[in-house]
Amino acid sequence: MSKAKALVVVLFLAVFSSQCYGELRVGFYKGKCGQTDVEGVVRRVVKTWFFTKDKTIAAALLRMQFHDCFVNGCDASILLDGGNNEKKAIANKSVRGYELIDAIKDALEAECQGLVSCADIISMATRDAVLLSGGKWYNVETGRRDGNVSFASNVNLPGPSISVSDSINTFAIKKLTPTDMVYLLGGHTVGITHCSLFQDRLYNFNNTGGPDPTMSKWLLFGLRMKCPRGSSFDNIVPLDVMTPSLVDNSFFQQIQRGNGVLQIDQQIALDPLTKDIVKGADFDTKFGEAMVKLGRVEVLTDAQGEVRKSCRAVNKKPLFLGIIN
Ligand code: HEM
Repeated sequence: MSKAKALVVVLFLAVFSSQCYGELRVGFYKGKCGQTDVEGVVRRVVKTWFFTKDKTIAAALLRMQFHDCFVNGCDASILLDGGNNEKKAIANKSVRGYELIDAIKDALEAECQGLVSCADIISMATRDAVLLSGGKWYNVETGRRDGNVSFASNVNLPGPSISVSDSINTFAIKKLTPTDMVYLLGGHTVGITHCSLFQDRLYNFNNTGGPDPTMSKWLLFGLRMKCPRGSSFDNIVPLDVMTPSLVDNSFFQQIQRGNGVLQIDQQIALDPLTKDIVKGADFDTKFGEAMVKLGRVEVLTDAQGEVRKSCRAVNKKPLFLGIIN
């Protein structure tokens, strides 16, 4: 081989390997499951679930993806069943959507055994559910592997009263910018929250004996009706008070009017660190980009981790018998 040819080969290998090794990419499963379109299978199951079982699945999956990626990376560790796994942590008590992930996994295993990771299923299914709920399409990167580690004690997720600066720091540890954080909190455009998580804002904010002054009078009235003082029942209310089942820009409009239900949601519209991002928010295009960045947090790729057979359990290791003389 001539020197020039050898140089071309070396350059090709360098560029090729730097692009593919250890990285996620759009279309990772293309051509890996015969004629079957892996993303098409996911889309079909999510669509059926959405129309026949649960129209709120986008909210469930968005939260699941966030809670998975922020604890031990996007490795589906939240899905593992067992004694003291992440699932059991208080912060994950109301996370839902596990049955849909099982249904997708079953459909994929029936087509191509051991190919598609549970971590990728979460990302693809979330995107499809977002689209079904009025959000815009975004290309999901795939190629994640599933982790084997899941402990409730590792779950250290931000709470609803976290300050904007602390939240920025928490997201920065995951290599996400304040802008990413604001758009990701836009995930609160769908879904619900329990009264207990913002009750202090209604009756005794910061021990003042009164409500949070940043909450609009209109919202205060409505939330006090839904969440009466001293009630023994922990009611639920929508996070986006205008269009609670649509993935749309209304959450950002509402928080600018004092209609944020969670304290952190309200604060990002007021804090000098983030208010301009909220004001100029281009939710339709930027939300998907932020979700893709969330999906890159501390991923396992290539030979790391495994592709689980069931999303609820790590694979059984083959039993090697020693040779006894
Ligand atoms: C500082 C960051 C965040 C905090 C403090 C936070 C807090 C919360 C809280 C307290 C709830 C209500 C839980 C309940 O009442 O059971 C909630 C729900 C939810 N969160 Fe977040 N969250 C954060 C970031 C995110 C991100 C990044 C996403 C997704 C991109 C997200 C998506 C959701 C969704 C969709 C729900 C509704 C779930 C449902 O209806 O089942 N959150 N969040």
